[in-house]
Amino acid sequence: MKIIRLPETESTNSYAIKLIGKNRPAEEYVVVASYQTNGKGLEANTWESERDKNLTFSIVLYPDFAADQQFILNKAISVGIRDFLQNEMPRAEIAIKWPNDIYVSDKKISGILIQNSLVGTSFEYSVVGIGLNVNQTLFFSNAPNPVSMKMITGIEYGLDDLLTKLLQTIYKWYNQVKTEPQKVEEAYKKALYRLMEWHNYEIKGSKIFAKITGTNEYGQLLIETDAGPIILCDLKEVKFLL
Ligand code: BTN
Repeated sequence: MKIIRLPETESTNSYAIKLIGKNRPAEEYVVVASYQTNGKGLEANTWESERDKNLTFSIVLYPDFAADQQFILNKAISVGIRDFLQNEMPRAEIAIKWPNDIYVSDKKISGILIQNSLVGTSFEYSVVGIGLNVNQTLFFSNAPNPVSMKMITGIEYGLDDLLTKLLQTIYKWYNQVKTEPQKVEEAYKKALYRLMEWHNYEIKGSKIFAKITGTNEYGQLLIETDAGPIILCDLKEVKFLL
């Protein structure tokens, strides 16, 4: 594992992707930035992170599983971050909010942006970008519900130490995809935010009362209404109403 630290960059994901184009770095190469001038979130969102306060980094991976199994990578990374946070903050309730967030109760503490390049049925590379709110206590963007580790525990954390532990936990779960994928699936399902609870959602534009029953291998969310049928939802089709 090699870590390179940048005082400032546009986005660690963009930096890592450019680097792969130039000289294919080894697997588990990590780019960390103290500050991103244009941190990216899912869809057109930006990622807010104050200079030197949080972890913003990207990991270069070359997964050797089939491209149509790409959502298991998202699952392993999500479980890894969740497992790490639950260890650091044993009294907090940490959940995985489909498709790419980690929540503490009803607030977002971490976001994941995975950018895959696929060739035919296999991966050319995967860049796994992670933002974790650590010591920041004031947030200014319009993100609805941010929270940080310090806001929960009152502790000011050392970022280097946290990063080492977080990476170890993530790699443990990433390697488990190859050896025991079922364990990753189980841990993901167990930690899924709002699993089997009835809540309001907006699906394909209409409001419904429904419960999440899991995800399928393609990463679609499975939702059931009281009318019965299971609805498969893709990324842009479902909004969680808080
Ligand atoms: C989201 O919540 O929509 C995903 C946020 C991902 C943010 C991280 S910070 C490090 C990496 N570099 C980026 O530009 N984005 C990811």
